Amino acid sequence: MKTAIVYDTSHGTTEKVANMIASFNSSIEIFNLKENKNVNMDEFDQVIIGGSIHVGKIRRRVKEFCLKNLDKLLQKRVGLYLCAMNEPEYENELKLAFPEELRNHAVIKKVVGGEFLFDRMNFLERFIVKKISGINETTSKLDEKGIMQIVDEMGLRSM
Ligand SMILES: Cc1cc2nc3c(=O)[nH]c(=O)nc-3n(C[C@H](O)[C@H](O)[C@H](O)COP(=O)(O)O)c2cc1C
Repeated sequence: MKTAIVYDTSHGTTEKVANMIASFNSSIEIFNLKENKNVNMDEFDQVIIGGSIHVGKIRRRVKEFCLKNLDKLLQKRVGLYLCAMNEPEYENELKLAFPEELRNHAVIKKVVGGEFLFDRMNFLERFIVKKISGINETTSKLDEKGIMQIVDEMGLRSM
């Protein structure tokens, strides 16, 4: 089973999660959509797609990737994850982030928490985060158990 992880990240947390998942198997290939939008889907049996939520929305490149590759993705095993910090909204954010068909098809879909990395934010981002969350210092709330569920559901430990 050949596996790709495809992601986009703003401050690096979605990338961190991609690397955590990939650390379980050396054959996994990782694609940062900022650097490479043209992933050759024919090379992979399963694809994990990761994105993050900023002001209620998934990052544009992830949305575009899912729509552009929807037909091919529906023929593969798919895992979906999101990095986000507003826990009461997780289910809703997941629904809005990925197309319904893809969500229904995915073997796992999870919000794995996230991080507020103040040293990587610009002035406006700091302002927004303080306003919507009340938090004003670097905070990490990654759900390691959730990440392990993705690893296991995608069969990555045993490959
Ligand atoms: C400006 C800004 C807005 C955010 N808005 C939301 C939000 O609406 N809902 C949420 O659950 N998390 C929100 N977050 C939290 C991010 O999803 C979290 O920081 C995530 O780890 C970012 O991952 P990334 O660095 O890979 O993009 C926001 C973060 C920032 C910096």
